[in-house]
Amino acid sequence: MNGPLQAKTAVVIGGTLGIGRTIALGLAAAGADVVATSRSHKAVDEMGNALEARGGRTLRVTSDVVDRASLEALHDAVLKEFGKVDILVNSAGVTRRVPTLECSEETWNNIMNINLMGTLRACQVFGRSMLERKYGRIVNIASMATMVAFYEVAAYGASKAAVGALTRSLAVEWSSSGVCVNAIAPGIIPTALNRELLDSPRGHELMMRTPIGRFGKPEEIVGAAVYLASDAASYTTGQIIVVDGGQLVSGVNQ
Ligand SMILES: NC(=O)c1ccc[n+]([C@@H]2O[C@H](COP(=O)([O-])OP(=O)(O)OC[C@H]3O[C@@H](n4cnc5c(N)ncnc54)[C@H](OP(=O)(O)O)[C@@H]3O)[C@@H](O)[C@H]2O)c1
Repeated sequence: MNGPLQAKTAVVIGGTLGIGRTIALGLAAAGADVVATSRSHKAVDEMGNALEARGGRTLRVTSDVVDRASLEALHDAVLKEFGKVDILVNSAGVTRRVPTLECSEETWNNIMNINLMGTLRACQVFGRSMLERKYGRIVNIASMATMVAFYEVAAYGASKAAVGALTRSLAVEWSSSGVCVNAIAPGIIPTALNRELLDSPRGHELMMRTPIGRFGKPEEIVGAAVYLASDAASYTTGQIIVVDGGQLVSGVNQ
């Protein structure tokens, strides 16, 4: 397929639903062979069908970012089939709203284990062969919570702030070996992750704070992802690109 990602191989973790799914389809539309993975066999299979229906090559492999062995198996399967991994997108993420005084260590650790440690594990597993090849594009999905606080989601905010720090640290360590590491901080994109949180006065406040006047669509994250995944981003590293309808820069909107 023609496009800026022609002949590239991409792995999108958390790539079967929401933002990750749409990024996976967008990378494929830009010419990449894409492997979209998550924990669900059914969802992985369905995404495999969707990618093949668009004319691309893919693989159907489940993985769980809390399970390093599953990421290693995914990495090895992709290397065996495609010979390389050029692009890694880390989109697996979870959240939970709970007053911080009542947030159990189990809840805190689970969110950290998926959002932060999961991103670190995937970067380590895929980064090694990227560094050996001296080529890689890693795109982590951060959040506005990387930069500002949202009420009663302290664990999520801490995990995403740390994803921002990890992104910068890896960029500093790996860029001279050809591996650029960046992140995207999406604004409010209604998905399975946040539908319940948005259906509330909190949703109205978020909408009021968004200068563009509406929430985003997953498709509106794709352009930033394709750019960061492409050769055009050869001098871009350690950046967090905010795609949020203007929310982060707004003071008063009326
Ligand atoms: N939606 C927003 O407004 C928004 C804003 C800012 C940032 N984000 C971030 O964007 C990313 C995607 O969010 P989303 O809204 O698209 O969420 P989503 O619709 O719930 O999709 C999450 C994806 O991650 C996968 N996943 C969850 N836990 C996993 C694990 N342990 N191992 C592997 N895959 C796992 C899910 O599949 P399985 O459950 O089948 O594994 C699913 O494919 C997250 O990192 C989120 O924090 C979202």
